[in-house]
Amino acid sequence: MNYTHQPLCITVIGASGDLARKKILPALYALYCQQLLPASFSVFGFARSAMDDDAFRTMIASNLSCRYSPGATCEASKAAFLEQCFYVSGHYGSRDSFLDLYERQRTVCPLSVNHLFYLATPPSVFLDVARALGGAGLVHCGFSSPWSRIVIEKPFGRDRESSDVMVREMGLVFREAQTFRIDHYLGKEVIQNLMVLRFANLVFEPLWNRQYIDHVQISWKEDLSVAGRGGYFDNYGIIRDVMQNHLLQILALVAMEPASELDAGHICNEKIRVLRSIKPVGLDDLVVGQYRAAWWNGRHELGYLEDEGVPENSLTPTYAAACLAIDNERWRGVPFLIRAGKGLETRTTEIRIRFKPVERSMFAGLLPAGAANELVIRVQPDEAIYLQVATKVPGMAMKLQQTPLNLRYQEAFDAMIPDAYESLLVDVMRGDKSLFIRKDELAAAWDIFTPVLKDLEQRGQKPESYAFGTVGPDGAQALAARSGVVWG
Ligand SMILES: NC(=O)c1ccc[n+]([C@@H]2O[C@H](COP(=O)([O-])OP(=O)(O)OC[C@H]3O[C@@H](n4cnc5c(N)ncnc54)[C@H](OP(=O)(O)O)[C@@H]3O)[C@@H](O)[C@H]2O)c1
Repeated sequence: MNYTHQPLCITVIGASGDLARKKILPALYALYCQQLLPASFSVFGFARSAMDDDAFRTMIASNLSCRYSPGATCEASKAAFLEQCFYVSGHYGSRDSFLDLYERQRTVCPLSVNHLFYLATPPSVFLDVARALGGAGLVHCGFSSPWSRIVIEKPFGRDRESSDVMVREMGLVFREAQTFRIDHYLGKEVIQNLMVLRFANLVFEPLWNRQYIDHVQISWKEDLSVAGRGGYFDNYGIIRDVMQNHLLQILALVAMEPASELDAGHICNEKIRVLRSIKPVGLDDLVVGQYRAAWWNGRHELGYLEDEGVPENSLTPTYAAACLAIDNERWRGVPFLIRAGKGLETRTTEIRIRFKPVERSMFAGLLPAGAANELVIRVQPDEAIYLQVATKVPGMAMKLQQTPLNLRYQEAFDAMIPDAYESLLVDVMRGDKSLFIRKDELAAAWDIFTPVLKDLEQRGQKPESYAFGTVGPDGAQALAARSGVVWG
């Protein structure tokens, strides 16, 4: 049955926070404008902050965009959406608070209604919330309508053990089929295009292996400091915050074998298979860094240790680069270099698939040494996919250069690119788990980084310092050079 015909009650828990305000509630409004929410829906915000419905609506309104309802219709559609938004204040671990929520919902929602709970709180309260929701009887156990589903955001634990505990304890209230572990990178258009690019085009898949690919780079760079979120970040660090989840998910899509069917179970099985073929990262395969104060773009940027909330002697890395090895027939011997950092020279997320140079080319000498094809998939900003190919420069002389065959999303598609949260929320309502992390996949991803995280912490290893606004620590260049690679 089409999900839009079933009444839905959405509860955003932690509704006073950044994620709810800037991402989840605007995404719900965008879906409303596109008629992708059920005809009968309501949105409840729940958090400790004292607010009434009006204050909640005012808070939401300030972040709603008119991009799907431009012109004169926008104000009316905002008002109609906000009329369906309500707020209940309470405590996360309190069954009574969720009974209050239930009572309030009964006055607004039909008796038989699907429930979507979005946990937009710090992970430290996930279990309290789940238990209190269960205790208040708000969770239907069936998977078919009326259903209850819960969405949680990373980080899912701090290591394999704590992640297993969270999975097990949450599982006492929400079954695996009801649990949607979101990695919003998987909702991004370009990432969703990865499988299509690989498996719906003849030209890539035959070359997608160690015979033709020299190495793969996946980079996540941010030109921002932790800016006021130091307290949260210091608990996790860049490996847990970005590498173990976003970068490994992207890597799994780059490296997985084709699934026999286009469904969540088959795709997830292939992603797990490749994650399990990755050797756990050792200290020799890893470089960690921490940014220090510097003048950048005409501003004095504070160093990580100067951020309020960060202990003055913190060893938490704000940068990490790792060289991963996949031990299977397709990839044996191909370095997968991944790096993630804050306080760098630019903001970008991209994948670079570097092919081997043509052997004994008759054009050898006309291109720079080592020139080779490179497929670049830019996730953000300015989504693009381009392939660097050798071409002749027009003119009398035989002069070659590397030129991009370019697909820029803004130019190629006369369509609005949906925000990742919009597409992922639609998947939750449909019950499609293809882009969500299954518990065994989560465990496989933690197994890659848990040993090295423990080693770093036991040794008290000091991260290498790098100045804010630079490319990161020198050690990262040296790490890549050991595999004969220069970062792109
Ligand atoms: N912000 C983003 O764009 C983003 C992106 C990806 C993932 N995430 C993840 O999503 C979750 C929420 O992110 P956020 O940025 O919205 O976090 P946040 O603003 O720090 O927290 C959300 C709400 O939770 C409550 N809260 C904060 N600290 C708490 C604590 N120690 N104990 C109990 N309640 C607390 C606060 O509400 P009350 O005080 O009113 O109860 C706060 O408004 C985090 O797990 C984060 O890692 C966020």
